[in-house]
Amino acid sequence: IFCVFVVNSNSCNLTFPEGFQFGVASSAYQVEGAYKEDGKGLNVWDEITHQYPKLFGFANGDVTSDSYHHVKDDVALLKNLGVDYYRFSLSWSRILPQGTTNVINQKGIDYYNDLINELLANNIQPMVTLFHWDTPLILKKAGGFYSESIINYFFDYANLAFSSFGDRVKTWTTFNEPKSFCQENPDGVGTLDPSLPLGWMDYTCAHNLLRAHSQVYHLYNNTYKPKQNGIIGPVYNLEWDEPASNKSADLEAAERRRQFDFGWYFNPLVFGDYPEIMKTQIAKYSKAQNLSRSRLPEFTDKEKKQIKGTFDYIGLNHYSAWLIKDGDGVINVTTPSFTNDYNAEMYKDPSWPGSSISWLKVTPTMFRKELKWIKDTYNNPLIFVTENGYANNGELIDIKRINYIKLYLTELLKAIHFDKVNVQRYTHWSLMDSFEWINGFKARFGLHHINFKDPKRTRIPKASSKYYKSIIKTKKVSF
Ligand code: BG6
Repeated sequence: IFCVFVVNSNSCNLTFPEGFQFGVASSAYQVEGAYKEDGKGLNVWDEITHQYPKLFGFANGDVTSDSYHHVKDDVALLKNLGVDYYRFSLSWSRILPQGTTNVINQKGIDYYNDLINELLANNIQPMVTLFHWDTPLILKKAGGFYSESIINYFFDYANLAFSSFGDRVKTWTTFNEPKSFCQENPDGVGTLDPSLPLGWMDYTCAHNLLRAHSQVYHLYNNTYKPKQNGIIGPVYNLEWDEPASNKSADLEAAERRRQFDFGWYFNPLVFGDYPEIMKTQIAKYSKAQNLSRSRLPEFTDKEKKQIKGTFDYIGLNHYSAWLIKDGDGVINVTTPSFTNDYNAEMYKDPSWPGSSISWLKVTPTMFRKELKWIKDTYNNPLIFVTENGYANNGELIDIKRINYIKLYLTELLKAIHFDKVNVQRYTHWSLMDSFEWINGFKARFGLHHINFKDPKRTRIPKASSKYYKSIIKTKKVSF
């Protein structure tokens, strides 16, 4: 009865299809700790959290959830949940302290071997992300993703990862959320470095990253896949852009923002180039600035061919939504920016239920719309939901998280059954409380609680972990 009341009768008894997989996710900087241990080199987050401690509420990844020393404990949590796979990332600077293959840190490789072997011994598949924002510091100093040299460095690093772990890792991700990375500059290069030219760097970062992605896809496909038989793709994020009204200007603005947001990264992989609207709009704005060329770089014909088709699946991180209104169209010639280029206003509907993070509002029906839009716009790709979750203040009886999971997974079931969207995996963010970038330890996403003052970093299950476990077991959303 509760289900009928909350959802509606025809979706109450839906189940996840045969073969559908469940997982949970984390990322290296957010959970590992041991930031200077066993030969690990520093990365941009090690630097920025020490340089600007106040910005992060004095939280950092020095110890954080201390997963480096809790391999068996973490795998026991996963086993208890009953997940099919664990999505985690490799720390580039733990494996290559200098960023390049000149120095290989065997202890870093050993750590990931231990984790992978422990997972497999417990029948849990590793799903490994090569890059979740923690650029080796030494490579940032050499220009990071703003320099083309990153393409070769990333290629060498990926090559080492495939040859070291690919016999056991069957799902690889190149980049996690490049849009957040390049646009919001969480690597500490962009917004905090006023010397970088405005309105160029987001696009340059994306361009280098996309070319690095395509080269690494081909490396895996040609050299490793024939023997290792795995799959590889990117993980992108999209907070759904919902038009603020039915006016055609707002409908167009919402679609334009989706193209600037998700299309920026996915169009090249599906169609071989950036979205038309980005090309025309940025060229127009660049012209108004009297620039001799567009701030959006161009792919060569060879690159277009190389980049098209470079995904076996599309990973989707989705948490929430925005309302979109058409912008005022004023071209900001003195301080050009990505935000000005897409010419739209974004805001949250005040009636949307919140969380402990201002951008994270509970908007489950937007999840279904987004999945359907991806299906229709990009020829029905294979989708893995690679992140979805809710932030609160650390309550152990986390009713609001349970509610979030219930509502979002119900919408996912509708997308699968009624809209025929090809989603085959769902990953909850996150296995446990961890360092949350700008929010430090204030926002808690974990299914397991950690007291960051406890030297043992004991993992305590929250009520939501039991709830998620029951969904995995029954393949149904219970009410
Ligand atoms: C995703 C990231 O954007 O959102 C995760 O891939 C992150 O790494 C999560 O933890 C929550 O975001 P934030 O910014 O609140 O830490």
